[in-house]
Amino acid sequence: MSQNKKESTEFAQVVAIDGPSGSGKSTIARDLAAALHVLYIDTGAMYRALGFFADQQKIELVEGEKLTNFLNSVKMDYGFSQTCLIRINGVDLTVKIREHNVSKLASIISQLPSVRKYLLDFQRALALNKVCVMEGRDIGTVVFPNSFCKFFITASVDIRAQRRLKQLKEGGDHSISLEQIKDDVRKRDETDMNRVVSPLKKSEDATLLDTTELGLNDIIKILSNEVKFRAAHLGFALGPNI
Ligand code: DC
Repeated sequence: MSQNKKESTEFAQVVAIDGPSGSGKSTIARDLAAALHVLYIDTGAMYRALGFFADQQKIELVEGEKLTNFLNSVKMDYGFSQTCLIRINGVDLTVKIREHNVSKLASIISQLPSVRKYLLDFQRALALNKVCVMEGRDIGTVVFPNSFCKFFITASVDIRAQRRLKQLKEGGDHSISLEQIKDDVRKRDETDMNRVVSPLKKSEDATLLDTTELGLNDIIKILSNEVKFRAAHLGFALGPNI
């Protein structure tokens, strides 16, 4: 076995992108995947879908038998497409999961160990034998600690809140002020960073990127160069993988 091949089997062929909400990581992850011609996987969408669906089924967002039964009854499908991204038990939740109140439900449900375990297994199975860009909070630390290339994306609270406001307005939601969003962003960071299971934190071997002052094109250039460099070193073939 060649040295390259031996090395490559020790790494997951997953580009791990983590960071707080509004850091721009979703746009970055999606564009990076497109630039590399590989699949894009949005794990936040999965927490959103589970939070929304559990709430609809009147499942209390706490550990217990009801939650266990709920998770056993759920069949999640990830669609790899912006028009049909995620379904639970056949119901398409692609649009619903972007509503403002779903962010809160996702943040609460993502603190529950049994939910994290359910999605950990789902995410690992989904990425099996695929080259992909996977985005979330714990991809580089927990889901794929052996990822060959990890990035931690961040930006100032102000700029993250402004981006979120723009996103909401574009989606037709004009009900929330910038101050409210800033407050939500701070609270969500606090919860995400301090939860007991898989808190949001930078993996030691991840490259830190602050996007406050950087344009998207520059960011994609920087990241894709690094991914290509590492992939070439390990003998990984990048896309087309879609
Ligand atoms: O990235 P997002 O805003 O769509 O994520 C929604 C929520 O899900 C957020 O509160 C953090 C949580 N999340 C998580 O805990 N782990 C992930 N890998 C992805 C998201």
